[in-house]
Order: sequence, then C-alpha cells, then structure tokens
Amino acid sequence: MGEEGPSESWMSSTVTKVLVALLLLWVIWKIVSYIRQIWFAIFLNYLSNTMDPKVLEVKGNFLSSISSTVSHDPQLRKENAIRLLEIGVGTGTNFSYYPDGTRLVVVDPNPHFRSYYDENRKKFPNIHSEDIIVTKAEDMDMVESNSIDVVVTTWVLCSVDKTGTEKILRQILRVLAPGGKYYFYEHVEEFDTVRHGTRRTIQHILTATRIWPFIFDGCCLNRDMLAAIQKTGFSKIEAQRSHNVLDHFMFQLVNPTLKGVAVK
Ligand SMILES: C[S@@+](CC[C@H](N)C(=O)[O-])C[C@H]1O[C@@H](n2cnc3c(N)ncnc32)[C@H](O)[C@@H]1O
Repeated sequence: MGEEGPSESWMSSTVTKVLVALLLLWVIWKIVSYIRQIWFAIFLNYLSNTMDPKVLEVKGNFLSSISSTVSHDPQLRKENAIRLLEIGVGTGTNFSYYPDGTRLVVVDPNPHFRSYYDENRKKFPNIHSEDIIVTKAEDMDMVESNSIDVVVTTWVLCSVDKTGTEKILRQILRVLAPGGKYYFYEHVEEFDTVRHGTRRTIQHILTATRIWPFIFDGCCLNRDMLAAIQKTGFSKIEAQRSHNVLDHFMFQLVNPTLKGVAVK
C-alpha cells in the first residue's frame, strides 16, 4: 500500500472538517429548537392566563355550536356525549368550550406543553381528556379513521407550511366520521389592503425575515388556509374572514381571523 500524497491528505482533512462543522451545526440547531419549544410553551401558558377577554368571547361564541353535535357512536349518543379531537392543543385553552362528557383526544408535537395541559385539564373533570399524543397532526395515523365527531384547530395552521397543511387537512377528513365537523379558527394574512395595508406589510416583513416564526415556534403571519380547506373534499364549508377588535398589542398582528366549519 502506498502512502497518502499531500493532495489526498489535504482532501481527507478538509472532508473531516466539513463533516465536523455540519455535525456541530446540526447539534446547535437541535439545541436551539429544543429551547425554542420550551420558551414557546412558557410564553403560551403566560398568554393563556392573560388572554384578552374579547378573544375568549369571540372564540366561545364560535365554538358554542359544538354542544349541539350528535355523536355518530351509538354508545356516546346514549350518554349525550361526543368524541372530539383537538389538534395543536397547547396548554388546553379551549376546555371551557367543550360540552360535558366530551371524550377529548389531543395531538401536539411540542412535548413541553404536557405539564401545562395536565394541570389545566384537572380543572375540567366534566371532560374525559386523554394524554397528549405527542406528534405532528400530519403523522397522526394512530387516530382511527371515521372515529371523531368534531375536530378543532385554533391558531395552529399558521405554524404549518402548505404541504403540511394539506396533509393535516387530509388527516382531518380521514378521522372524521361521516357528517362530522371540522371547526377552524385561524389568524390569516391581512386581506384589506386599503384600510390595513401597513399591517399586511409588517406581517410580510416579520415572516419573510423569519423573525416572527423564530420567536413564535414557526408561526407565520402571512398564511391563508381557506383555499386548501376548500380543496380537501369536505361536503360543505361555511367560512368567513373578519377583523377582531382586540386591545392587546400582541393581537394587532395576528388579525384578521378565518373561522368556519367544514362538514365531512
Ligand atoms: C399558537 S399555539 C395555539 C395553541 C392552542 N390551540 C390555542 O388556541 O391556545 C399553536 C399550537 O399548534 C401546535 N402545532 C404546531 N405545528 C403543529 C403540527 N404540525 N401539528 C399539530 N400541532 C401543531 C403547536 O405546538 C402549538 O401548541
């Protein structure tokens, strides 16, 4: 065997350096993502506890019709209960809107919400809430097809890209029982360019520079998911975009709202 010449030795040391640098970048990125998830769970818990009462009122009015849902499951029907899947449950800010006896299945990819969610659900013994399934909704194959009466997302799809959103919507259609309903309440890109053009510009700058998504765990201010919902294959969709009158400065940018119900 011949010895390595100077050029081979330079090559192999450069390749080693590049591999070590890539490995280091990957480790740094993993650590940053981990810290970002912890920070976001703490932040969302703070926000949930200091939520603008107007947001709670608007959300409450919107989700109130869930209580008139009749379950597809004969056993649950007898108990006047439903099975509800909440995607991106976070700390569990929506418990108070769910009817008594609800069988609650929840999915969220951020494991650091678990303790807040567990603490919060203790306050709602009228709901049978399951442990968080820690996964992205794109991958929630463990939730049985045609098993859910109502699916809810509130401020979730803003953190998911176009392909992910389409996958999640297909999963929602799959898990809903025939006639089941998908309730969506999402903040979207400003559409009124005449009255609120400045807000739209700021939304685009903060999202394109990745400043907002970096701070708020992937949240994008310039998304609008109605077209994707319309393409998914629901039998009926009622949706509207509207501006909420909100006092909290945080909510000036996460406005307007797209809310609606899609029926399987
Ligand atoms: C702004 S928080 C909203 C939490 C809660 N829904 C609420 O209204 O207070 C966004 C939530 O979506 C979750 N999320 C982000 N990407 C997701 C995905 N691909 N699948 C499911 N949940 C996701 C986040 O972990 C987080 O809990």
